[in-house]
Amino acid sequence: MQFDKIRISPTTTRNVRQVEATANRLVRNLDRVLGTLRLGGRKAPYDDLSYEFLGGPADVLRKKHYDKSLRLLWKAEDAAPFLGFKDCTAVEKQLHEMALRGMNDEERAQLARLSTREYKDLLNREYTVREKQAIVGILSAIGHGEAYAWLVSAQLLAEVQSTGARAALTMQVLEEAKHFLVLRELVRAFDVEIPRLSAPEYLMLEQVIKAKGTEKLFGMNVVVEGIALGIFGMMSSFPGLEVLRLFHLDESRHTGLPNNYFREFPLRDAQRKHPLRRLRRLAMLVPALLLIPTLEDDLAELGIDVFEFGGSVIRKIGVLAKRNNFDLPADTDTLLGLVNKALNAYGDVARPGHVQRDYISGETTKGSDELEVEGEIFEGKQASARAQRIRGAA
Ligand SMILES: [Fe+2]
Ligand SMILES: [Fe+2]
Repeated sequence: MQFDKIRISPTTTRNVRQVEATANRLVRNLDRVLGTLRLGGRKAPYDDLSYEFLGGPADVLRKKHYDKSLRLLWKAEDAAPFLGFKDCTAVEKQLHEMALRGMNDEERAQLARLSTREYKDLLNREYTVREKQAIVGILSAIGHGEAYAWLVSAQLLAEVQSTGARAALTMQVLEEAKHFLVLRELVRAFDVEIPRLSAPEYLMLEQVIKAKGTEKLFGMNVVVEGIALGIFGMMSSFPGLEVLRLFHLDESRHTGLPNNYFREFPLRDAQRKHPLRRLRRLAMLVPALLLIPTLEDDLAELGIDVFEFGGSVIRKIGVLAKRNNFDLPADTDTLLGLVNKALNAYGDVARPGHVQRDYISGETTKGSDELEVEGEIFEGKQASARAQRIRGAA
């Protein structure tokens, strides 16, 4: 490359450099003093000398949550074409066309690209109006939660340490935005009234968004994502709701984020065990229990016992809380036992002929892929070769 060089004065360059160096020392020293005196100082938690955010690179977090999220990034135009999103690149569309051309008629029919009209017809064929209301009742509960997940992950992006953790949270912000927007269109396609947040959900989500620092990881990535995993895993096998598998996979990554973050930046003992923090965690968890009776009629319509769903979700939240060292006012097994007692006591009062059962060992996630994903998270099972291939396990 040939450049036409411009002649400049070497003296001017030297002077500018010197003035800049002095100004640089001044502003940084001033900010350092203000910072020490807690009167302000540098706002950005960024170290431009090492080209890194404070906290260091945290490459493992980046690989597990940023690189992997990008590898598994899905587009609504491809996964749910009937919702009207236009988010595929030209190459992705070409690839899809080529794949369709290579299929036989039966395979092609399975992957038919439904129009919005055809999708609504499918829903009306598969479900009664009451069943559609029940599905919308459940899905909108987590749909409103996605709005909070979007906001909370954006807040956390500004609060976590390290380049890797910021990269991880950036992907979560993107995925929660997609979850909110895509789920909202999916729910709207049912053409029934969409309910507001129920009181327990409102209480829970408002506490999560108000939680301080990494306590948000408990509220969001343990409690709310635990409920989301339960709902998506339970409903992704329903006709017309197959796209929820992709939500389930994203949420499974999100539930793994606190564990990977705390490996690099562990919670201090005082933070784990502080009585007030433990109480606040419990306060975020209690509305999840109060949510159970409010979902009973809709779940019953879909053939699912709300106690089994509640027990299954609370058990998984308990596993995540324990794994991430988020101590609660009592140990997890004691709390799970209490929840089981409470569910049975409520059943004795509210259900004629109720028989006592162990609801905590319930499992309402369906679909072999979804069960395998949860097996990896909750029981530490090794992903099958097929799953590793599909999900690009790092
Ligand atoms: Fe989400
Ligand atoms: Fe999430």
